[in-house]
Amino acid sequence: MHFEIVTIFPELFGPFRSTGILGKAVDRGTVRLEVFDLRDWADNKWRQVDDEPYGGGAGMVLQATPALAAVRELESRAVDKPRTVMLTPRGRVFDQAVARELAALDHVIVLCGRYEGFDERIAHILKPDEVSIGDFVLGGGEVAAMVLVEAVARLIEGVVGDPDSVTDDSFTEGLLDHPCYTRPPEVEGHEVPDILRSGHHEAIRRWRLERAVEATVTRRPDLVNDNWDVYSEEVRLMVRRFGGGPRRNRHSTPSE
Ligand code: ADE
Repeated sequence: MHFEIVTIFPELFGPFRSTGILGKAVDRGTVRLEVFDLRDWADNKWRQVDDEPYGGGAGMVLQATPALAAVRELESRAVDKPRTVMLTPRGRVFDQAVARELAALDHVIVLCGRYEGFDERIAHILKPDEVSIGDFVLGGGEVAAMVLVEAVARLIEGVVGDPDSVTDDSFTEGLLDHPCYTRPPEVEGHEVPDILRSGHHEAIRRWRLERAVEATVTRRPDLVNDNWDVYSEEVRLMVRRFGGGPRRNRHSTPSE
C-alpha cells in the first residue's frame, strides 16, 4: 500500500511515520508513506500557495494551481491509477467501511487542506474522493490524514502483528468493543470478572459478545440500527434481550 500525502506541514508527519506499528510497517516496506510539501508546486518565488477569498471574508484559501500540479505530477509518476482523497469537512464521513474500501486500494494520494478551505475548482477538476473524519472543523487536514492512514494501514495484511486483533474487529462488526482487563486481578476493590479467568473459551467468547452488544445498545443505538443487516442471528437475539434493535412492525425497513 502506497500513501502519498500532500501538505504544507510535512514536518508534522515525521514521528508519525516512524513510530509504533506504522513505523514498523514502513520499515518493512508493507506500507510506503511519502510526504510532499505542497509549496514545492507553488508558482511564485515566495512559495505561497494560498490567497484571499473572492467575495471577501476571513481566512485564506488554498489555490487550485499548486494542488492540481502536485496531484498530476504524483499521478504521472505512478505505475497504477491512484485514488486521490481530499480531506475536507464537506466530504463523506470516514468510518470503518470507508477504511476497508481504501485498504483494498494499492495507492492513495491524500491532499490536506489548511486555512478556510480549497479553491472549489480543485474538486471540480480532479473529482477527488472528498472525505471528512467527522462533523467538526480542524485547522487543517493533517491530523485527519493521520487518522485515515492509521485506520487504513492496520487493515493491510502484515501491518498488525497479531492478525486476530483485526479479524476480531470484523467478527464484532458494527458493535462497540467489549471491556478489557489486564493484571493485576484486583484494583481498588474492583475485580476482573471471574469468567475471563475461567479458561472456558466458549463462555468467554459469549460473555465478550454480550458485553459488546450491551455497550452498543445502550451507548450507540444508532449503530445497532445501521448494522442490523450485517448482524448474525446470535447478535440479533442478544440485541433483543438488551431491548434494542429496529422496531418490529410490518413497515420496518431493516430486514429481520
Ligand atoms: N479539515 C478540516 N476539518 C476536517 C475534517 N473534519 N475532516 C477532514 N479534513 C478536515
